[in-house]
Amino acid sequence: MEGGNPMLKNRQKAGGTRRGFVILGGIVGAMLLLNYTATAPSDESTRPASTRYEQRTPSRDGIGKIYMGREISHVMGHLAAGWLERPEREREEMPNRLIEMLKLKEGDVVADIGVGTGYIARRISPKIGKTGIVYGVEIQQEMLNILAEKMAEEGITNIKGILGTITDPKLPPNSVDLAIMVDVYHEFSHPYEMMQNICRGLKIGGRVAFVEYRLEDDNVPIKRLHKMSELQVIKEATPHPLSWVETLDGLPWQHVIIFEKVATQ
Ligand SMILES: C[S@@+](CC[C@H](N)C(=O)[O-])C[C@H]1O[C@@H](n2cnc3c(N)ncnc32)[C@H](O)[C@@H]1O
Repeated sequence: MEGGNPMLKNRQKAGGTRRGFVILGGIVGAMLLLNYTATAPSDESTRPASTRYEQRTPSRDGIGKIYMGREISHVMGHLAAGWLERPEREREEMPNRLIEMLKLKEGDVVADIGVGTGYIARRISPKIGKTGIVYGVEIQQEMLNILAEKMAEEGITNIKGILGTITDPKLPPNSVDLAIMVDVYHEFSHPYEMMQNICRGLKIGGRVAFVEYRLEDDNVPIKRLHKMSELQVIKEATPHPLSWVETLDGLPWQHVIIFEKVATQ
């Protein structure tokens, strides 16, 4: 953690070697994905939970736990909550453009998983109106306390904080139209279990949006483990009853990778 900028990296470190690794990683990722989509969903759902994750020596920003070739990052602690509300975020992430891209409508039920201070949920709130609801899910009660304070200040009543666990967002089953994770998924200590339970909360046809800093783009000045490639997201989402719908690229630093819940027999 680096005080006010927990996920920013030093731009000087990005160079040609790094770009080469990213391209090579992309090619290897594509090969893995092609192989993976043919075989992996059943492999992943039937493999014993004890072999799902590997443990290695942690890197500086990671917890040393490896899932599908990716080291999981540290959770951003509540003491860095101010970083989520930084004014530059409007320019760096364009949250209002993101919310327009999601095509929400009055009455929608949204789950903002890893809601933090509600920076995104509070902007979703007017789109879904009085008949809609945003479930703001967190594992840190301190974040939910900040969310409640900000809701009171802004007169927002259609966000409901939920204290989840590291494996379960505790959503009502088959209730959610859109589950969104902005800069969150790469922090899940139990990504497989979280996605299983998120899928349980989704309606059939409900969507999941992964909003992650683009690993493919060296100009995005965010630490390696806080970025994800599109291929890696697809690889980790598709063992679940999720079908890829589209990847939206209209934001400065992030991509928005959208899936839909499909019926299983
Ligand atoms: C980088 S912050 C992003 C907050 C918010 N989405 C935003 O964009 O402002 C990531 C948040 O995800 C939360 N988180 C991590 N793992 C979680 C889990 N399994 N369930 C719910 N929240 C989680 C952390 O506590 C942290 O507040």
